[in-house]
Amino acid sequence: MSSSSLAQFGIIASNDPSAIESTCRDYGLSRAEFKQLHERCVAAKSSAYCPYSKFRVGASVISDDGPYFDGGNIENASYPVGTCAERVALSKAVSEGHRKIKAVAVATDISPPASPCGMCRQFIREFCDLKSPIIMFDKNDNYVVLRLEEILPMSFGPEALPPPGSLKS
Ligand code: THU
Repeated sequence: MSSSSLAQFGIIASNDPSAIESTCRDYGLSRAEFKQLHERCVAAKSSAYCPYSKFRVGASVISDDGPYFDGGNIENASYPVGTCAERVALSKAVSEGHRKIKAVAVATDISPPASPCGMCRQFIREFCDLKSPIIMFDKNDNYVVLRLEEILPMSFGPEALPPPGSLKS
């Protein structure tokens, strides 16, 4: 696809350094962080266990304090039990004590890029700011980037819950 037709979908070409530069500026990522997220989510597709759908997904997240955590989707013979790549990566971060996630990247083998499913959007909501970037790479390493609040408008989050015990039974 030419870069002008990619732009129609809001897709940024991976061979456009100035566009990547402005993504990094707009979303508060260093160029090195963007590169790591990109490489790691693409590599994480290899860890996908997806014998049923054959649809590989890789995800990588960076925590506020530095480390990255990666994951692939994990399916199950009892289909609804499967877990998406985004929740695998985030669960690894959170279970290692990293509860503040700065950015999420996801890669698939399709184009245009896939976006996180509804359940994952809510899962991400728990650990990311509404302004955090969700970077979605397609099979050609081109990407779309949106803020969490754009893919999950009017969301329900931890701050909406009144203190336990304050609600009438
Ligand atoms: N999947 C993900 O891992 N992340 C998404 O955001 C969308 C879907 C997985 C679930 C299932 O293993 C396969 O992709 C097909 O739906």
